Amino acid sequence: MEVDRRAFIASLGGTAAVSIMDHEAKAEALEHWMEERLDEAVGQQGATPQKFPSAAELEAQIETRSYRRGVGNLFVNTRGGMMKKLPPMPKNATLKDFFELRFAPANHVLQSATRALKTGMSEEVVLACLLHDVVQSMIKVDHGWWGAQLFEPYIPEKSTFAIKYHQALRFYPDSDAGYEYPDQYLRIFGHDYVPPPHIESTYKMVRNHKWYMEPRLVTVNDLYAFDQNAKVSLDPFTDIIGRHFKQPKEGLGNDNSPSAHMWRTIANPDAPL
Ligand SMILES: [Fe+2]
Ligand SMILES: [Fe+2]
Repeated sequence: MEVDRRAFIASLGGTAAVSIMDHEAKAEALEHWMEERLDEAVGQQGATPQKFPSAAELEAQIETRSYRRGVGNLFVNTRGGMMKKLPPMPKNATLKDFFELRFAPANHVLQSATRALKTGMSEEVVLACLLHDVVQSMIKVDHGWWGAQLFEPYIPEKSTFAIKYHQALRFYPDSDAGYEYPDQYLRIFGHDYVPPPHIESTYKMVRNHKWYMEPRLVTVNDLYAFDQNAKVSLDPFTDIIGRHFKQPKEGLGNDNSPSAHMWRTIANPDAPL
C-alpha cells in the first residue's frame, strides 16, 4: 500500500506534532493509519456497481461444468455434493404430497403466491404464482411451457396461460405494471443477452392478448420472491387448491392424463429408463 506522507502527517496534527513523537509511537500511528485506509478501500470496492457477465462469457463456462444449466433440480446437485435418497411417494399422490416430497422447500413459489394473495389478486393468478416454477425440479430450460403442460389437465385455462407465458414476459419490463428487468437475469443470461425469436414473438402476442395481465402479474410477484428468511407454507392455499386444482382420485401420475408421465418422472427421478 502506498503511503501519502502529507495526508499521514496531517492526520497526526502536522509536522510539529510528529516531531515530538518517539519512534514507537510513529510506527504505531502509521500502522493504524494504513489499516484505516485499507478498510476504506475494501468498503469502496463493495460499493462499486456490480459487474455482470456477457452472454459470451457465460457460454464459455459450458465446458467447465459436468452438467447443463437447463437440467432440473431433482437430477443434479449443482453444489457438487451427493444426491439424497428421496422419500417414497404415497399411492394416490396429491399436489400437496408433491409439494412436500419433491418440490420442497418451494420457498420461491410460496413467497410469490403469498404476495399475490396479500395484494388481492385473483385466485387464478394466486394459483399460477404457486405453481409457476415448480416444474424446474424436472427441467429448467423453457420452464414456462413445460410447467403449463404439466398443469394443463388440472387447472383453469387462465392459470395455465399465466404459467406458460410468465417465462417470456420476464425479459420485457413493464413499469406501469410494476415490473423491472431483474438483476438476476443480467447475472444468469448476460448483460448483452438478446432473447431468441420465439420468446420475442411470444411476448408480442401476449402483450396484445386480453389475458396479458395474468402472466404479467406472475412476473410482478416473481420480483419479491427470493427472501431466504421468509416463513411460508402451503396452508393458506388449501382452499384455492381445493376449488381450482382437479386432483385425480388415482393420484397424480396414475390418471392417464396427457402429463401423467411428467408427474411420474418427478416422482421417480432415480428410474434408469
Ligand atoms: Fe419462472
Ligand atoms: Fe419465479
